[in-house]
Amino acid sequence: MLNARLSGMTDYPFTRLTALLGPVGPRSGRQPLNLAVGEPQSSPPPMVAEALARHAGDWGRYPPVAGTPEFRSAVAAWLTRRYGLHPGLVDPDKAILPVQGTREALFQIAMVAAEDTGRDDAAVLIPNPSYATYGAAGFLAGAEIVPLASRREGGFMPDLDRLKPELLARAALLYLCTPSNPEGAVADLDYLKRALGLARRYDFVLAVDECYAEIWDKAPPPGALEAAASLGVGEGDDPFANLVVFHSLSKRSSAAGLRSGFIAGDRRIIALMQRLRTYASSAPPLPILAASTELWSDEAHAAEIRDSYRAKVDLAEAALADFEGFYRPPGGFFLWLDAGDGERAAKRLWDESAIRTLPGAYLGRAEVDGVNPGHNFIRLALVHDDSVLAPALARVAELLSKGV
Ligand SMILES: Cc1ncc(COP(=O)(O)O)c(C=O)c1O
Repeated sequence: MLNARLSGMTDYPFTRLTALLGPVGPRSGRQPLNLAVGEPQSSPPPMVAEALARHAGDWGRYPPVAGTPEFRSAVAAWLTRRYGLHPGLVDPDKAILPVQGTREALFQIAMVAAEDTGRDDAAVLIPNPSYATYGAAGFLAGAEIVPLASRREGGFMPDLDRLKPELLARAALLYLCTPSNPEGAVADLDYLKRALGLARRYDFVLAVDECYAEIWDKAPPPGALEAAASLGVGEGDDPFANLVVFHSLSKRSSAAGLRSGFIAGDRRIIALMQRLRTYASSAPPLPILAASTELWSDEAHAAEIRDSYRAKVDLAEAALADFEGFYRPPGGFFLWLDAGDGERAAKRLWDESAIRTLPGAYLGRAEVDGVNPGHNFIRLALVHDDSVLAPALARVAELLSKGV
């Protein structure tokens, strides 16, 4: 059954992109530039290499699945600072678990949540469009995937008021992402409180992917732990009942290759994730946990990285402000441009301008009305050095201004 599901999964966005654009270079003779992939291109801060060298003696040891007390304390302190939580609210030993980047944990939470409902008709609710792992995880966990359209009129967040009680009653899990990939939208505190209120009322898991939380434009995005703190305790006197948040050093510290992140939240769910990971996975290696402990304790490098992304958004705004499909994203490092027909725009940008972008439709799926909310859009990752990015954006502007 799992094999049939897995072999039936052929909709990975970048596989579709290769099929659309073809395996060879663009037809024009111009230098190809890739704005499709959201991989940070700047180097991690030097403290990473220094910490890895200092802890090189630990490469031979298995890391405990719960990580080290130093790592968990640094994370609890960071969460407390970043989200203005009461000191002591985050229990470093029960509410935090290290993970090897958020992707694997975002995947594993579906298995834990779907099994936890004990229902055969469990539903996993995902923003539409969204990061491909959410849908794949729910599907492979045997749940029904329910896409929730994220449209401009709803601030590019799913409309919580449209969720029917019958659906919420069989929901195992609701994924949210803020700042969101692909739209760069930010959920406000009230929205997060409403989402957690529903999770508690209908007893499902709210999984909030906050891996872009540190990349923001004008103001730090609120977090779901903050929403929980203002709602008060839930089931079992747990301040974070029904909630798990996902954080990563991939973007905050430009260190995707470290594979280092953490999850935090509901003690019972964290314990179940820990049990699953004891069989299936691992904490990051000890030298990486040591480097990560230092990164979570340092704000200066994160501020520098944030500033560099803000400068890239400035470049994008300078190039594209006249294009009516442009808006300045409040968070993250993607541009989500309404080009009328995203697939057609991506094809033309590649063929004529040698710029690789991702059609928004590949991150979404058709709703019951047959409309894929990503259809009109292309996603551009603003991750390259400014010297690469500026000419690439000029080429994008040149083509889009002609209309696709
Ligand atoms: C929305 C979102 N969540 C999670 C991830 C996974 O990141 P990592 O596993 O490096 O933390 C990504 C990566 O691009 C992402 O865009």
